[in-house]
Amino acid sequence: MAECQGDGEGAKSPMELYEKLTAQGEQVRALKTAKATKADVDAAVQLLIKLKTDYKQMTGQDYKAGCPPSENSVAPDNGPAAGGADDEDTVDPWNVSTNNAKGVDYDKLILRFGSSKVDKELVDRIEKVSGQKPHRFLRRGIFFSHRDMHQVLDAYEKQKSFYLYTGRGPSSEAMHVGHLIPFIFTKWLQDVFDIPLVVQLTDDEKYLWKDLSLEDCHRFAVENAKDIIACGFDVNKTFIFSDLDYMGASPEFYRNVVKVQKHVTFNQVKGIFGFTDSDCIGKISFPAIQAAPSFSSSFPQIFKGRKDIQCLIPCAIDQDPYFRMTRDVAPRIGYPKPALLHSTFFPALQGAQTKMSASDANTSIFLTDTPKQIKNKVNKHAFSGGKDTVEEHRKYGGNPDVDVAFMYLTFFLEDDEQLEKIRQDYASGALLTGELKKLLIETLQPMIDQHQQRRKQVTEEEVKQFMTPRPLHFNF
Ligand code: TRP
Repeated sequence: MAECQGDGEGAKSPMELYEKLTAQGEQVRALKTAKATKADVDAAVQLLIKLKTDYKQMTGQDYKAGCPPSENSVAPDNGPAAGGADDEDTVDPWNVSTNNAKGVDYDKLILRFGSSKVDKELVDRIEKVSGQKPHRFLRRGIFFSHRDMHQVLDAYEKQKSFYLYTGRGPSSEAMHVGHLIPFIFTKWLQDVFDIPLVVQLTDDEKYLWKDLSLEDCHRFAVENAKDIIACGFDVNKTFIFSDLDYMGASPEFYRNVVKVQKHVTFNQVKGIFGFTDSDCIGKISFPAIQAAPSFSSSFPQIFKGRKDIQCLIPCAIDQDPYFRMTRDVAPRIGYPKPALLHSTFFPALQGAQTKMSASDANTSIFLTDTPKQIKNKVNKHAFSGGKDTVEEHRKYGGNPDVDVAFMYLTFFLEDDEQLEKIRQDYASGALLTGELKKLLIETLQPMIDQHQQRRKQVTEEEVKQFMTPRPLHFNF
């Protein structure tokens, strides 16, 4: 603990000072828990206050536990809202919750995370550069936040290619419709930009975090790969890997993991992810494994050893802490920072206060649900923004902003005009809740049915092909 006793003057960077502060906060807590003398506690608190003052001076911001200074140390770059105000939404890789029925306040999240808004200008630019109508997830603000997208497009316009990286934590065989969002969008990006895609299946992560055996996690990874393949990815352009397999098979990948491990301290991951002294060491080092696929040299078979190919990561916003860490490390180990496109969460049937959970069957529509199950779940469990009686509904209208059936339609109904008409009719009371739910059921049933048909056609041989390290059809 000796080094934690120093004061802020010795700290050269905001991150160093932040680490000192985090350690000092822990010291104060430890002293209090150990019922140390008042003089000792007071002295530690005084030092904590001094460090906080120094921090504010250096960064222009208040110190907040769990919120390390951002890469350029001006934007607030928060992770889990530890110690945050009570009215703040909780968004981290393990928890998503808010008190607001409309869901998480995403504009606030952009400010808190220090990312940028996907505004009309960016959507127009993607349209111009790709020559394609922007995907409905872009048109409707579902991919709402980004880091460095303009830089990726600038380079692409100068014939400099990039690659896509996304992933999935295989915690069970059952995937629900919410899990498809990043994959549906990634497939679109791959099609319009014609670029390679790597998909990380973090079976190691699920083993470390859940009460599951290694073999089950690996089996779930292969099963989930089938659902991912069923989204229509091209085997010549896509590499899907299980960490448990690829970590041991690729010296280059493991070298990058070790490089990241060397450049991130325990204090940093504690600050970013909220790890404590009693978390197993596997969890503490795992973020380095999720970071490694952001670097093209982790895949020499695809990029021919080049380490300068830019990476773009489409993911849900809760994964951002991993990539804030990655972007912080990248320049220090000689790699470009990955760019990001963040999506909102897919709400649970019960309402937008939280995201779907694979462990509670009634919060989600699963990719294995039958048409009848889909109908029953939507009718019974989808939170409604309608009024209690038909009479009242006709008179006052419903509220589409909190209505889960309407929210799901914004994700899956392709036709913008039809969606807008549904919104207006529901808000005016012309469309009843039962009718709105029927529209959703009729959208989901064929969509899930088609997915099931495609998944059935995915053979073991095909899965093996996707999951074998090999060159893809690109020249780097
Ligand atoms: N940690 C993610 C999960 O639990 C899986 C993941 C790994 C991922 N790499 C990723 C998700 C990259 C998005 C982008 O689901």
